[in-house]
Amino acid sequence: MKVSAFALALVVAFQAAAAVVVPATAPGAPTVGYYNGKCNCSVEGIVNDTVKAALDADITKGAALVRLFFHDCFVRGCDGSVLIDPTYANPNPEKTSGANIGLRGFDVIDAIKAKLESACCPNTVSCADILAFAARDASRYLSKGGVDYAVPSGRLDGVVSSATDAANSLPGSTFNVAELIAKFAGKGFTPEELVILSGAHSIGEAHCSSFHDRLSAPSSQINPDFRDSVLAKDCGAGGDDPTVENNIRDMNAASLGSLARYAVPARGGAYLDNSYYVNNLNNLVLFRSDWELVGSNATLRHVREYADNGTLWNLDFAAALVKLSKLSMPPGSTGEIRKTCRATNNY
Ligand code: HEM
Repeated sequence: MKVSAFALALVVAFQAAAAVVVPATAPGAPTVGYYNGKCNCSVEGIVNDTVKAALDADITKGAALVRLFFHDCFVRGCDGSVLIDPTYANPNPEKTSGANIGLRGFDVIDAIKAKLESACCPNTVSCADILAFAARDASRYLSKGGVDYAVPSGRLDGVVSSATDAANSLPGSTFNVAELIAKFAGKGFTPEELVILSGAHSIGEAHCSSFHDRLSAPSSQINPDFRDSVLAKDCGAGGDDPTVENNIRDMNAASLGSLARYAVPARGGAYLDNSYYVNNLNNLVLFRSDWELVGSNATLRHVREYADNGTLWNLDFAAALVKLSKLSMPPGSTGEIRKTCRATNNY
């Protein structure tokens, strides 16, 4: 009797563990409105409200969320793998890769997940979907409504997260145009879409180490006043790898000297728009990977096109983000709905 009760307890315990640990096979392609009727609340409404509150408190969180989404989707598809924290068993998840320097915004995703789990929709909404919704909402707020789109949802969270995958999948800021085109082609994106997506560098910030090479780039590749009087000065001001604004528009006009006319503080900064392309044609961008887009006919004509037409860029950027959102986990992968976004359920 005692033995069989013990055996029964073991079976029950195993089944309970299996229900949590064994991941479900990834479902079909994400669809718009997947969570309709699945929760006692509006999932997208809660994401939207939390993103808005986060941006109201710190507008720079918007750029963080847009980049977080790109870095999630380019590595093993949009599966929330970028959100995973290091553990004893997995000390080097994606976020520990050098390619993910400066990645932030995790706190916003945590806050959304906590609200959904406790308020109205436990064990239902994947962290991958939360990130996809949050990036859309951040894009919409930062573009003052210019960039907006319906987000397909129903993704599962991945159970694999590796710094090596991140290093192999993400583009580097010192890449030349051929390397950039190849990296994006590997994910199914055209050179035009590479140009479109790079326009996200109209917002946000970067560490000096991410564009250190540009401080010695020839004047044919970067405006020499920008290089010597702005970037070199800011980066030499002390501190451990300081950050500067990605967009000259958002820099302090007083520190821009002869380039002060490019600063547009009245627009409120952190504005997602086509100014990146205008800056690029004027050799006023941070990364070599940005400047490289004017160095090839395959990309230069699109830089010119988007510099001239901000409305077209809004639309094409939205379409490119939808395409990005459809990158799925490698064939045969399994997934789950995580209980917390920073850890797989069986960590
Ligand atoms: C084309 C290849 C790309 C390269 C080489 C690249 C590289 C970088 C680097 C090095 C940084 C600064 C990181 C730091 O030092 O903290 C950065 C920032 C950023 N990137 Fe990219 N990126 C690329 C494409 C993209 C795409 C496709 C998106 C989104 C659609 C994006 C969105 C951003 C944003 C929003 C920031 C600012 C993040 C913040 O303020 O926290 N990037 N990128």
